[in-house]
Amino acid sequence: MTILITGGAGYIGSHATAIFREKGYDVVVVDDLSKGHRAAVAEGAKLYVGNIADKAFMDTVLCENSVDAVIHFAAYSLVGESMQKPYEYYKNNVAGSMELFESLVRHGVKNIVFSSTAATYGQPEDGIITEKTPNSPINTYGETKLAIEKMLKWYNSAYGLNYTALRYFNVAGAYPDGHIGEDHHPETHLIPIVLQCAAGKRDRMKIFGGDYPTKDGTCVRDYIHVCDLISAHELALKHMLETGECGIYNLGTGGGYSNLEIVETARKVTGAAIPTDIVDRRPGDPPTLVASSEKAETVLGWQRKYGIEDIISHAWKWHSSHPDGYGD
Ligand code: UFG
Repeated sequence: MTILITGGAGYIGSHATAIFREKGYDVVVVDDLSKGHRAAVAEGAKLYVGNIADKAFMDTVLCENSVDAVIHFAAYSLVGESMQKPYEYYKNNVAGSMELFESLVRHGVKNIVFSSTAATYGQPEDGIITEKTPNSPINTYGETKLAIEKMLKWYNSAYGLNYTALRYFNVAGAYPDGHIGEDHHPETHLIPIVLQCAAGKRDRMKIFGGDYPTKDGTCVRDYIHVCDLISAHELALKHMLETGECGIYNLGTGGGYSNLEIVETARKVTGAAIPTDIVDRRPGDPPTLVASSEKAETVLGWQRKYGIEDIISHAWKWHSSHPDGYGD
């Protein structure tokens, strides 16, 4: 079976590419390398460098390969940046996806797994978020992903393009041997920053807000190991191919860790001091985001392998063996 992975040179996409290759799928990667890294793409995957919105380029990709299904990761994904650059986020995420879907329809590709986000929920009342929690994004990024989910619904009814949207909570960790991992420029995510501090690449780090209504006053997030996340993609794809059903699923763990608990776990894993300063809140951060993944567990049979210590120690393997990331 041939899977087209858009954004397959990015953090999550490169893990998907590696894992799907290992499981014996033929993998075609499309990535414009604006954020991704050539070196992150697993051996044996066929890389096409170009943009999903480029019709002629996508015609070449889809004519040269008989694609059975698509996993669509390619997107801009920084919440803060999305607030400064709505045009870029709508253009790249929404318009880009629309062109991709047109190309899929033109070439008769009927199945897509879409990388969505917890940011579609916005700032829900404290509690565990289910797929029935209302969507009310509080940032442009979440809004663009929700728009794409809705677009998929209409593409399904018009053209029979089956879709599964997976709403990720906080994805972290790395391939367990640390040969691929997270390399963003600039880095804004908590766990990579904590580990850059442990590695001595930063002297200290900031914790944004210490007065939230949470267990220790810092924000609580639901961290999911990137490899567990990808295993859900394979199950979602199989379920969609077998049943023809479209669906939306949360991917998280049902439990959350505060920012200070993450730092404390990283101190334990790395043995480093990791000095922190509690500073003002970061605009747009909800106090708590924790997923119910019961639907993915019951419908897809998804089971997670890794906990928070695995997440941090696998990420640490990557960061400590690649202090400059992919070096590009
Ligand atoms: N944080 C710090 N210091 C830092 C960086 C982050 O205290 O230097 C805090 C943030 O304020 C937040 C927590 O760590 O409280 C997690 O922040 P991240 O930036 O790591 O992740 P977010 O929860 O903001 O966002 C992530 C993904 C988004 C996705 C969202 C869904 O990056 O793409 O989860 O919940 F939309």
